[in-house]
Amino acid sequence: MKKKIVVLISGSGSNLQRIIEAISNQEIQNAEISMVIADRECYGAKRAESAGIPFHKIKRGTDFCSQLEACLPPDTALIVLAGFLSLLSSDFCYNWRGKIINIHPSLLPKFGGKGMWGMHVHEAVKAAGDLETGATVHFVTPEVDAGEIILQGKVVVQPSDTPEDIAHKVHGVEYEIFPKAIEKLLKGWKE
Ligand code: GRF
Repeated sequence: MKKKIVVLISGSGSNLQRIIEAISNQEIQNAEISMVIADRECYGAKRAESAGIPFHKIKRGTDFCSQLEACLPPDTALIVLAGFLSLLSSDFCYNWRGKIINIHPSLLPKFGGKGMWGMHVHEAVKAAGDLETGATVHFVTPEVDAGEIILQGKVVVQPSDTPEDIAHKVHGVEYEIFPKAIEKLLKGWKE
């Protein structure tokens, strides 16, 4: 039986695309994306559609998590947040503990927490003058970006890099570590 992954998105979905590719070329073995869920209109929805993956949009708001809970297939092995911007409730995080992961575009615990998303992260790295940044795959807990770290990948920042250059490099390392982290978890890490 293939392990079922549900991917939550809010944006362009390039990490979703990478996961689709990693499943089809067996970097992630014996798995399938059973559903993609978005909390808003986004380009990632088109990627799910093109790949023939069942897609749902659930409107952002207070009852988001109860609707999400109702539409998640019960045999879901892993919930993957791939550029997903809504916060999940404490109850939801508890019910699915150890089965929800997120990718964050910095080397956590640096540049994490509320307000640290998208270009804000890369602008903060630039402002700090850091010459190294990267991406982190971690478990999701109710505290934003604070769950246990599963895998990190680093990139070098040149002093001349703009926040956009940094974002581009970080996306590159995300495409390397996200499939590896998913494969590692599906193989039973932490069971
Ligand atoms: C990634 O940089 C990820 O770290 C962050 O959101 C971005 C999503 O990019 N959580 P994409 O939609 O996968 O292109």
